Amino acid sequence: MKKTVREIDVTGKRVLMRADFNVPLSSKDPADTITVTDDSRIRAALPTIEYMLAQNPILILCSHVGRPKTAADIQFSTAPIAQRLSELLGRAVTHIGEVVGESVTAVLADAKPGDIYVLENTRFESGEKKNDPELSAALAAFADVYVNDAFGTAHRAHASTEGVAQAVRAKGGDAVAGFLIGRELEALGLAVTNPPRPYVAIMGGAKISDKIKLIDNLIEKADKIIIGGGMANTFIRAMGHETGTSLVEEEAIAEAKRLLDVAPDQLILPVDVVVAPAFSADAPATNVAIDAIPADQMALDIGAATIEKFKETLDGAQLIVWNGPMGVFEFDQFAVGTDAVAQLLADAAEEGALSMIGGGDSAAAVRKAGLTAKMTHVSTGGGASLELLEGKTLPGIAALDE
Ligand code: 3PG
Repeated sequence: MKKTVREIDVTGKRVLMRADFNVPLSSKDPADTITVTDDSRIRAALPTIEYMLAQNPILILCSHVGRPKTAADIQFSTAPIAQRLSELLGRAVTHIGEVVGESVTAVLADAKPGDIYVLENTRFESGEKKNDPELSAALAAFADVYVNDAFGTAHRAHASTEGVAQAVRAKGGDAVAGFLIGRELEALGLAVTNPPRPYVAIMGGAKISDKIKLIDNLIEKADKIIIGGGMANTFIRAMGHETGTSLVEEEAIAEAKRLLDVAPDQLILPVDVVVAPAFSADAPATNVAIDAIPADQMALDIGAATIEKFKETLDGAQLIVWNGPMGVFEFDQFAVGTDAVAQLLADAAEEGALSMIGGGDSAAAVRKAGLTAKMTHVSTGGGASLELLEGKTLPGIAALDE
């Protein structure tokens, strides 16, 4: 078990907290008008922040945002995030325009208990993604205690996640988990360790190549694995059908065949799809069987009979884990399958099943369908939740105190 923030006292201490504030921002230009367009990940860190603030520490928050190449990519500044955090907390939050260095040391030299700071984007430092011990040590120098609540970044061994935990411990400080990490591990960890049964996993999204290991692991753990979205096309080809102009990963067809051979009864594939002649919001859509996809059309959603089949598969399930949309849900016309699956999970939760949503696109789809509050758990981690379900160790969590 990892030590958590509840087991330490941060009164008057300098706390460095790593959050995952990698949130969508409004626009790229001009930099000073950028705002946060979805603050879910900031809100998800509030329980830990507010719990600690009650003890009056000096709170120094850090996070990466996006994938900037250098510090010149100022559109990825954490300044709008500090602003939004200040609004959510209803108190002052000071944004510091660097991650480490003399200017940060100077600002922090005047810090008083109760002050809250947000450092600049950790990826503005070239040492962040390299897990550079010098950067970890520079971050650790600000802190008596390190708290990691960045579940969404826990699969990255970076200087502000893995390295700094080691560096704070090396100087005798605690390196502990926040409440969000605790909630995520409790919810998603159940699917890995002790799933209530029947356990049905639903996989979607564009690519099967990213998820082969995950599907292999699910074959061991889940009772049924529903496959939809773009990745189903590769399975449809592996079953010997034509897929027209649909997205197919030619190089993954052999893997799809292998999975179909290994788990013919566990894998539940579409029986029909919605096709269109172009990848466009207003392209004319037609529902066709998977063995009748026209040569000049592409599959953009699961079909009506497939939704029925998935509904039957989910009937009576006690645990449902969903990762990846069923179609191009950004276009309303091709969001029907994704919306239907979101509704099926909401209905199952109402009847007592545990409905868990992996982060990223599926969380966005559930939000778009207005069903977030109905789910048992909506993860804040995309890649992190996938790696956890694959059974991998997440280095950002592994580095924390036992
Ligand atoms: C995420 O959004 O999945 C995390 O914040 C990690 O971001 P990354 O994929 O750029 O490392």
